[in-house]
Amino acid sequence: MEVIINPSAQAAANLAARKIAGVVRAKPSAVLGLATGGSPVPVYRELIRLHQEEGLDFSRVTTFNLDEYIGLRPSHPASYHHFMWECLFRHINVCSERVHIPDGLAHDIPASCNAYETAIRDAGGIDLQLLGIGTDGHIAFNEPASSLASRTRIKTLSERTRRDNASFFAEGEEVPHHVITMGVGTIMEAREVVLLGFGAAKADAMLAAIEGPVTQMVPASVLQFHERACFLLDDASAAKLQRADYYRHVFANKPGWQRV
Ligand code: GLP
Repeated sequence: MEVIINPSAQAAANLAARKIAGVVRAKPSAVLGLATGGSPVPVYRELIRLHQEEGLDFSRVTTFNLDEYIGLRPSHPASYHHFMWECLFRHINVCSERVHIPDGLAHDIPASCNAYETAIRDAGGIDLQLLGIGTDGHIAFNEPASSLASRTRIKTLSERTRRDNASFFAEGEEVPHHVITMGVGTIMEAREVVLLGFGAAKADAMLAAIEGPVTQMVPASVLQFHERACFLLDDASAAKLQRADYYRHVFANKPGWQRV
């Protein structure tokens, strides 16, 4: 597990974008797992720049998003479909047939979740999964007490998560109670995972995920069992880590060949 404390969220985002670009350059048909929320926005901005200015080619890339609200049409401004097209897809040359986002309007939700799992498998599995983290340590929409073996399925949001995400909805609009989310087990199968967590509001979650025990009460903590997981923090989200000086020392002294 790699823990990188960056001087700013933007520096962390640039690093994440460089990692993603590296995967796409090495394997033009790469399968990317993508995330929504505020944290990935600067990563997507940098990927757009790399596409426009440096020719980063997404034409053969396949994407799978982590989650979606149930009941929101794709054009709804707070839907993750809308978010992804606005923040990334419409600015790069990704092929729309290779973009996958859980269907929040599916009539048969279990069947649609199983089909999502099958599509990930048929695409050859996820090469790199980008993640954010909730203030309670959730990843995707796997709330605390989610099974660490869970697959794509319906979940009920906690009031805290609904409150945290309310800023993406118009004033007075209800945040849905139900979502479709990749499971913790699904996420753990990605070959590489990059988790972003910025700001003081994420400091407790980062402490619990990185230095706490592995527990379903902090779903992100299971990444301690992942062979290639990288946590990208800024100074504020790293403020409570006991081993912060060590993580900084490791990063500053990386051998050249290990650098992104
Ligand atoms: C939502 C998303 C998560 C995301 C989290 C934190 O719950 N489903 O995937 O990690 O928000 O988002 P933010 O980056 O806005 O703090």
